[in-house]
Amino acid sequence: MNFWYGKHIVIGLGGGIAAYKTLELIRTLRTAGARITPVPTPAALHFVTPLSLQALCGERVRDALFLPEAPDGMDHIQLARQADLVIVAPATADLLARMAQGLADDLLTTLLLARRGPVVVAPAMNPAMWEHPATRRNVTTLQEDGVQFIGPEAGAMACGDEGIGRMAAPVTILEAARRALTPKTLTGRRLLITAGPTREAMDPVRFISNHSSGKMGWEIALAALRAGAEVELVHGPVTLPAPMGACCHAVDSARAMLDAVVPLWLDTTDRPGCDVAILTAAVADFRPTEQRQNKIKKSSGIQESTLELTLNPDILAMLSAWSGVATRSGRQRIVVGFAAETDAPLIHGREKLARKGCDLMAINDVSAAGSGFGTDTNAVTLIGRDGRTEPWPLLPKEQVAERLIQTITNLIHHPPRYGCS
Ligand code: C5P
Repeated sequence: MNFWYGKHIVIGLGGGIAAYKTLELIRTLRTAGARITPVPTPAALHFVTPLSLQALCGERVRDALFLPEAPDGMDHIQLARQADLVIVAPATADLLARMAQGLADDLLTTLLLARRGPVVVAPAMNPAMWEHPATRRNVTTLQEDGVQFIGPEAGAMACGDEGIGRMAAPVTILEAARRALTPKTLTGRRLLITAGPTREAMDPVRFISNHSSGKMGWEIALAALRAGAEVELVHGPVTLPAPMGACCHAVDSARAMLDAVVPLWLDTTDRPGCDVAILTAAVADFRPTEQRQNKIKKSSGIQESTLELTLNPDILAMLSAWSGVATRSGRQRIVVGFAAETDAPLIHGREKLARKGCDLMAINDVSAAGSGFGTDTNAVTLIGRDGRTEPWPLLPKEQVAERLIQTITNLIHHPPRYGCS
């Protein structure tokens, strides 16, 4: 089920030019099945009209505190209580000041004062206003009150100035909103995730690689971040935007990936190694034995050529072998592999889990429709060290990721005792 389906979101709009971007946010949420109640301040209606809000939300625009048609005149209290989430976008300097003061001089500030659940705020203002000590004080006060901020971002402003003050993009606000609604079951845990393909160079212009897009690892990173985990994302060449809040390490070859993951998995002088490793990367099994300094030329008359290959290190097997080594955290660690198969997935998946020594193996038949490289869906069967097999239906990769993070969370909180009867 789509995360936003059936959720009730109040969207408060302050009087800033960024309000036009909020219309896109509303549209995205509505398309995803959320119910949106727009609450513009009087100033916001200079930038967007009640008609555009009403057309996008399919709901009457509430812009007055005292509405004769509200049965008991307590509309603001009902709204503050009923909504799953309140998003304020754009939040102007004036609106932040009024919120921080606890003023309730229009419908939006009144419902915010009556609100007890999560509130996400996306500020937008001139950089000088954002940096002003008064705004800084107000932001600190609101953060202490539990208000969650997203942005503002750096860039060119509508007024021509450059600096920090642009409202976060609708897609960024959406992710922050989702995080605000996700229980923090992995707070204090650090997850190492690998994603994407590796590139094994033959010469300065050619390489061996594969079709991995990195999408599965990206979705797992997002699901883990939503659950409050710290994420170390080691990835090969991909075209995806960095997941907000992840610590990204871009690499190219399998050996570079190994060099990046080892100090994250083992204790360093600074900190203990990660608690969980989820290796979705499609690591090239072999690399050209020789990497030529200059471009390989084709010689005239030669019809065939051979390329000598050398086996790459198996990162999954190495991390699994080290997972028994207790880190300073003293926690039991979990290693998850992903096996893309084209035939007899269960047989090959079980054999791989045993050979590589991981705790869980997520196997998918990449030759099946809708499953595998580059698709947005995946049909995964999860197998555990105890032989347990869980076939999952064809699901969006986002939902596969959520399920996997849920499974890992259960394992963390209720660890199995292998070898005990
Ligand atoms: O053997 P195969 O490539 O099918 O195994 C897939 C799993 O092993 C994935 O989790 C992948 O990230 C990992 N792997 C690895 N190092 C390799 C090859 C695969 O970590 N050299």
